[in-house]
Amino acid sequence: MNILVTGANGQLGRELYDRQGLARASSKFYFTDKEDLDITQKGDIEKFIDNHAINAVINCAAYTDVDGAENHQQAAWQLNEAAVGNLARLATDKNLRLIHISTDYVFDGTSHRPYREDDEPNPHSIYGKSKLAGEQHITRNNAGMIIRTAWLYSTYGKNFVKTISRLVKEKEQLKVVCDQVGNPTYAGDLAMALLQIINVSEEMKELTGIYHYANEGVCSWYDFALEIARLQDASCRIHPIESKDWPTPAPRPHYSVFNKKKIKDRFLLRIPHWRESLERTLQKM
Ligand SMILES: NC(=O)c1ccc[n+]([C@@H]2O[C@H](COP(=O)([O-])OP(=O)(O)OC[C@H]3O[C@@H](n4cnc5c(N)ncnc54)[C@H](OP(=O)(O)O)[C@@H]3O)[C@@H](O)[C@H]2O)c1
Repeated sequence: MNILVTGANGQLGRELYDRQGLARASSKFYFTDKEDLDITQKGDIEKFIDNHAINAVINCAAYTDVDGAENHQQAAWQLNEAAVGNLARLATDKNLRLIHISTDYVFDGTSHRPYREDDEPNPHSIYGKSKLAGEQHITRNNAGMIIRTAWLYSTYGKNFVKTISRLVKEKEQLKVVCDQVGNPTYAGDLAMALLQIINVSEEMKELTGIYHYANEGVCSWYDFALEIARLQDASCRIHPIESKDWPTPAPRPHYSVFNKKKIKDRFLLRIPHWRESLERTLQKM
C-alpha cells in the first residue's frame, strides 16, 4: 500500500515519520508538506496520487493556529474546509483510503460526560467551524475516516508541554487556567494508533466513520502544567486561574473529554494514560 502523508512537518506528521518502520513491510510512505505538496492545490495532489500510485492518504495538514484563525479566516477555511473537500472528492473518485485528523473544537464544551462520536457538534471558534466543515465533506461523501483528537503535543513543533517546560525553568511563578478540562494527547501515541489502523485496514472493506482518540485520563491545563513542572523538579509556583482572567481571541471549550470506546473496540487499541505518555515525552526531550 502506498500511503501519502500530508502536513508531514507538523507535530503528528513527524511522529508518524519516526514510526513508519513499524508499519507492514508492504506499506510505502510518502511524507510531504506544503513546500512539496500544497493540499489547497487539487491538481497537484491528483498528479502526485497518480504518479506514485497512492492507495491511502493520511491528512495531517491543517490550519492549527486557533487564535490566528479568528483574524485569518480565509486561510483557515481554505485549508481546513476547501482543501479537505478536494481530498474527499479525490478519495471517492480514485477509491483511496482517506484518514483525516480533526479536533475536539468541533464541540462547544458544555457536555457533562465524555463526548461520543455521534454527539452534536457546535463549534464556537473559526478553527472549530472550519474543521467541522472539512469533516462534513468526508462524512457526506462517505469518503474516509475521521479521527478527532485533542490537546496534541509532541517533541516537535510548538505546544503547551514545550512552552510550560521552558517557563517553569525560567520563572518563579506562573498562572494557568484551571476551568478547561480535557485529554492531553501525545502525538507519538496517535501516530502509533494510525499505524495500527493502517496495518489492519488492508483487510477491511472500508475505512469510514468518525472516531475519537486521546490519551486516557482527564485534567485541566493547570493540572497538566503542575505535572510538567513536577516531572522536571521545577520549583516554579503555578497558580490556577479562570479562563475569564486569560482572554484569548478564540473561545475555548471548557470540557473537551472524549469517549474513546469506539476506536479502542474496533482497532483493539491500548491507549496510554496521559501521565505515562507525558513522562515518556519529557524523557525524550
Ligand atoms: N495541535 C493540537 O493541539 C490539535 C488538537 C486537536 C486536533 N488537532 C488536529 O491534528 C492534526 C495535526 O495537528 P498538528 O498539531 O500536527 O498540526 P501542525 O503541527 O500545525 O502541522 C500541520 C502541518 O501542516 C502544514 N501545512 C500548512 N498548510 C499546508 C498546505 N497548504 N499543504 C500542506 N501542508 C500544509 C503545516 O506547515 P506550516 O507549519 O509551515 O504552516 C504543518 O507542517 C490537525 O488536523 C489538527 O487540526 C491538533
